Amino acid sequence: MRKEKRIRIKELLESGQIGSDIQVKGWVRTKRVSKNVAFIALNDGSTINNIQIVVDINVIPEEKLEKVTTGASLSVCGKLIESQGKGQRVEIEATDIVVLGEAHPDKYPLQPKRHSLEFLREIAHLRFRTNTFGAVSRIRHAMIFAVHNFFNEKGFVNIHTPIITSSDAEGAGEMFHVSTLDMNEPPRAEDGSVDYSADFFGKKTNLTVSGQLEGELAATALSDIYTFGPTFRAENSNTSRHLAEFWMIEPEMAFYDLDDNMDLAEEFLKYLVKYALDNCKEDIEFLNKRAIDEDKTKPQNERSELTLIERLNMVLTEDFVRLTYTEAIEVLKRSKPNQKKKFKYLIDGWGADLQSEHERFLVEKHYKKPVILVDYPRDIKAFYMRQNDDGKTVRAMDILFPGIGEIVGGSQREERLDMLTKRMEEMDIPAEEMSWYLDTRRFGTVEHAGFGLGFERLMLFVTGMGNIRDVIPFPRTPKNAEF
Ligand code: 4AD
Ligand code: MG
Repeated sequence: MRKEKRIRIKELLESGQIGSDIQVKGWVRTKRVSKNVAFIALNDGSTINNIQIVVDINVIPEEKLEKVTTGASLSVCGKLIESQGKGQRVEIEATDIVVLGEAHPDKYPLQPKRHSLEFLREIAHLRFRTNTFGAVSRIRHAMIFAVHNFFNEKGFVNIHTPIITSSDAEGAGEMFHVSTLDMNEPPRAEDGSVDYSADFFGKKTNLTVSGQLEGELAATALSDIYTFGPTFRAENSNTSRHLAEFWMIEPEMAFYDLDDNMDLAEEFLKYLVKYALDNCKEDIEFLNKRAIDEDKTKPQNERSELTLIERLNMVLTEDFVRLTYTEAIEVLKRSKPNQKKKFKYLIDGWGADLQSEHERFLVEKHYKKPVILVDYPRDIKAFYMRQNDDGKTVRAMDILFPGIGEIVGGSQREERLDMLTKRMEEMDIPAEEMSWYLDTRRFGTVEHAGFGLGFERLMLFVTGMGNIRDVIPFPRTPKNAEF
């Protein structure tokens, strides 16, 4: 076989020179044989589109094609020609084909047909090879890149906050313990409790539930920072919106109040959605069509009112509605599903935490656009949120998105040392252990604010996928840490 430089299929389809001799490598999606020609659709993951390889049986004998089956890897040399068929600009007239790795048709689990997402989750090690997961993976990459781009353009400093931490004061969720102690025979203190001073770090440690508290330390020196890291929560919530291991982006800004915080979050979300529409057009169009097809199999009342692309455009063009928790409770109390007792959790008074059914009612049925809720009851929010003068609410903000519910949670932070320590006392948070955090308030304290965007919740929105297990390569959920 002649040695040409391998070219990616994306590049060939977009700008390959007609008549040039080229080499491609990839995996077979389909093969079709008719009289004297065979057609092979080859994909290398650089684009959702396959390149069609036309094989003249007189040039490449049929026996050689036997091992060209779905899933096999090939190296193909040939000439780039103008496509005879519709749907693609160019195709390859093969002069030589080498099967690099076979995929026996009786054993290879992926066939050229639509497999259910549940089945694909069981073979997550191979699902990258499907159109859907190829598209999701490329969009995921584009969104990671866009996150860094957005903050870099604004002069933010990226901070790596620790993954192993000894603080568990945030209260954002149940934590996974990190230990090298022998679980069968841990060293014990005199009172019989496990003696963590003998553990690796000399104290009890966990996987982080958020990088915020460390982020605040950096923001009160560098002004504008963001973290983007793995986050772990051991909640036993087996929903289509929760992972035990997910990625979160947490900007933290000195000299920001809650309005500045909301403005930044809205601009950020719009930037990400626009980036996806501008840079992942083919993948989004594929997922858009996929969602429309899937919708057709659902009963009328469960179908989406808007298509994926319409939802993305809606976020770009609409101003997010901003209202207080108290106003939202009034809307929910008067709402039809509440009056007719259709909500699982009925709203009867002020103070309850909102469930995702309530959040989605506000966004999807009532306002029909993204909603930012602010000023939540302080008793359902974290200790660090800035207290309002009413003595009941804090400067929290949650951003609610159609089909998702909460996508962002954040707040203006309590920068007044006395107010903060008083609140920590009320909530039984030991001030000595948090002394490092309180130093930001002791020395040169400033108004500041920040928020957390759940990266996989963003991915759900941008891809239109219905289950969070399908927007991260290897999901970790209760009873599942496969691969
Ligand atoms: O609202 P949360 O718990 O906020 C924080 O952790 C703050 N420290 C953020 C900050 O102000 N810096 O989480 C933020 C976001 C949620 O809005 C949601 O999008 C996502 O993280 N999230 C999850 N995503 C997937 N699986 C889970 N179990 C999640 N829990 C939260
Ligand atoms: Mg939250």
